[in-house]
Amino acid sequence: MKFADRLDRFGEEIFASLNNKKLELEAHGRKIYNLSVGTPDFRTPEHIRKALTEAAADPENWKYALRDLPELLEAVCAYYKKRYGVTIGPEQVMSCYGTQEGVGHLALALCNKGDVVLLPDPCYPVFQAGSFLAEAEPWYYPLSKEHDFLPYLEDIPEDVARRAKYMIVSLPANPVGSIARAGIYDEIVAWAKKYDVLIVHDNAYSDIIFDGIKGGSFLAAEGAMDVGVEFFSLSKSFNVTGARISFLIGRKDVVDAVKLLRSQIDFGMFLPIQKAAIAALEGPTEMVVEQCADYQARRDALCGGARAIEWNIPDTKGSMFVWAPIPETYTSSMEFCMDLLNKAGVLCTPGASFGPHGEGYVRFALVLPPEEIAEALKAVKESGII
Ligand SMILES: Cc1ncc(COP(=O)(O)O)c(C=O)c1O
Repeated sequence: MKFADRLDRFGEEIFASLNNKKLELEAHGRKIYNLSVGTPDFRTPEHIRKALTEAAADPENWKYALRDLPELLEAVCAYYKKRYGVTIGPEQVMSCYGTQEGVGHLALALCNKGDVVLLPDPCYPVFQAGSFLAEAEPWYYPLSKEHDFLPYLEDIPEDVARRAKYMIVSLPANPVGSIARAGIYDEIVAWAKKYDVLIVHDNAYSDIIFDGIKGGSFLAAEGAMDVGVEFFSLSKSFNVTGARISFLIGRKDVVDAVKLLRSQIDFGMFLPIQKAAIAALEGPTEMVVEQCADYQARRDALCGGARAIEWNIPDTKGSMFVWAPIPETYTSSMEFCMDLLNKAGVLCTPGASFGPHGEGYVRFALVLPPEEIAEALKAVKESGII
């Protein structure tokens, strides 16, 4: 059978081939430090798990949900007010099955074939996959060291800006770990107004920012609500990655368009998960702050520890990732990644898998405690690879 041509655009998942190599080494008794995939190892708070299990005990909650519960939408609005100082109404919010799914389907609601969308390079891969599904045309804006790994609007040609339907911005950024500097969202809003481009902000890591800086929401910038929407995932802040809870929030016409698409293919989020989301949003958030300190200790162990063995990795500013330049003796991030795994037993992700501007770097996920990160660096040092 000849399957759809669009599948030809999707290559083999990089994590799958790395994982195969890891399993092979483990089968030979090797200790592997897995710093590749961004799945948090922290626990889901008890009150969230309890809300889900209690709701699941009620057979009524196993029916089609058909909608987002009004109390869930209210909980999101109250959280946005309290956490980010942003006022939104329930009609500006819809749930999605994680940002991965939401951003993956977004272009289907917003784009016709050939429409231009602006995406960061390197970027979280589903930004690109979503545009391919809708046969939109991605135009990549580089996140380069020269501009602190931040969007640099002056580099986007006028004709591209005029043709663009939307631009995805995501800070703190995966994989590069940059965070919003003061004023950048205001500049993006002014640019979006000038060229009539929708801004889609992916806010997955607002609670993982280091050195005393507090993360926020793009929608808090003046005028952002006229030009933007934001994906707000609970995955990383509350360690609920498997429950698939995220929201699309902001400009109502955009939220309505995505709701219309969604209503054709979905009957709503499992009610116990909606209850768990309410518990997360309305419950205590001390753990979110404590966890950020734990991530910072891991960041210090990795970046500081690497510098101590003469691998010059700058401190990451936010997200749960470290963006590490590969040694000058290497020209390929994939080759370096494989050598690091074979010689030191340390697994990371090649920067090139996030886009051409990712070449020359590898990404580490901060998913092991500081002691294990220190052990991993000791293995790197002993391997002589740096
Ligand atoms: C930038 C970014 N957005 C979204 C996600 C996934 O969010 P969710 O679990 O809500 O799909 C990730 C996960 O790694 C991410 O790095």
